[in-house]
Amino acid sequence: MRVVSGIQPTGNLHLGNYLGAIRNWVRMQDEMEDANRAQAAAGGSAEKNQCLFFLADLHAISMPHVPADLHKGTLEMAAALVACGIDPSKSVLFNQAQVPQHAELQWLLGGTARMGWLNRMTQWKDKAGKNREGQSVALFTYPVLQAADVLLYQATHVPVGEDQKQHLELARDIAQKFNNDFASEDVPVFTLPDPIVPPQAARIMSLRDGMAKMSKSDPSEMSRINLADDPDTVMKKVKKAKTDPEPLPSEEAGLAGRPEALNLVTIYAALTDRSMADVLGEYGGEGFGKFKPALGEVLVESLRPISARFTELLEDREALDAILARGASRAREIAVPTLDATYKALGLVRG
Ligand code: TYM
Repeated sequence: MRVVSGIQPTGNLHLGNYLGAIRNWVRMQDEMEDANRAQAAAGGSAEKNQCLFFLADLHAISMPHVPADLHKGTLEMAAALVACGIDPSKSVLFNQAQVPQHAELQWLLGGTARMGWLNRMTQWKDKAGKNREGQSVALFTYPVLQAADVLLYQATHVPVGEDQKQHLELARDIAQKFNNDFASEDVPVFTLPDPIVPPQAARIMSLRDGMAKMSKSDPSEMSRINLADDPDTVMKKVKKAKTDPEPLPSEEAGLAGRPEALNLVTIYAALTDRSMADVLGEYGGEGFGKFKPALGEVLVESLRPISARFTELLEDREALDAILARGASRAREIAVPTLDATYKALGLVRG
């Protein structure tokens, strides 16, 4: 099994990223470790299962950006991932810019991806809006780079939130077409990756609007909880979160048509590892005056160890640089054979 996933290093790591993706990364990392240990104990190779997690800094330049912010944001995101439990001695942790094979493979896959496929991507449509002509080429070809990110490592599983599923389906389409068009019989160049979307918390919504996803691009800071927010800020954001005047229902069905209430209960359930039914069993009939402080407490307690570790890591710049350099070197080793096979399959002469 090879698990691969990425996150853009723009803005702070927020609760949506954490519950929708990163927590799942940490779980998968630890499961892989257990599986490797069991395999080694049974006398097999311990190298079979592997996780690679990266900062998608090359993706970040598809939107207007300030170079100094991207630079700082990349280091901060690396620290945030380690603070959340990504262990660089268990997983390969790196940033795309230190592994040039991502950009190379993207170009090679550009001959296979179709304009029509990219035109159908909802993220492209949402971000470009009516001004398609004014967007960067990189924003349009963004999903081809994302396909390269996972195909380069022969990823079998890609843990993501719901919003990235379509990009992963495109990666499968590209891999399949490339294999059909260029692979010699029975020896596919690329593995078809499976997206892994956590059933609960796949879509954490904005605290200001239960119909919009929690996102780092939302201009309102009050719309999201950042993993580095201090306890007072967290409490304030939860208290001010948009809700409706009704008390909480005692059954899940009662949350239909109440997106803000649904979102807050989802967050509570995800953080405490309880089912929605269980949480509603406890809080059904109560108003938000009681539920919000309880949710705030759970958030503060969950984030406390993460933000403490985050602050500590940020103070050691050399250690962060070393983590990323080592991760990139391991990633390059894994990437090269696939890239070589891709050049070869396309008939390109390389000496
Ligand atoms: P990004 O940086 O927007 O988000 C990182 C991860 O967090 C998930 N996520 C959410 N999940 C639930 N609720 C939310 N409100 C929420 N917001 C974000 C995302 O689904 C994602 O899993 N294009 C990707 C980065 C990327 C990538 C890849 C991912 C580049 N190459 C290859 C997987 C494989 C992105 O912009 O994610």
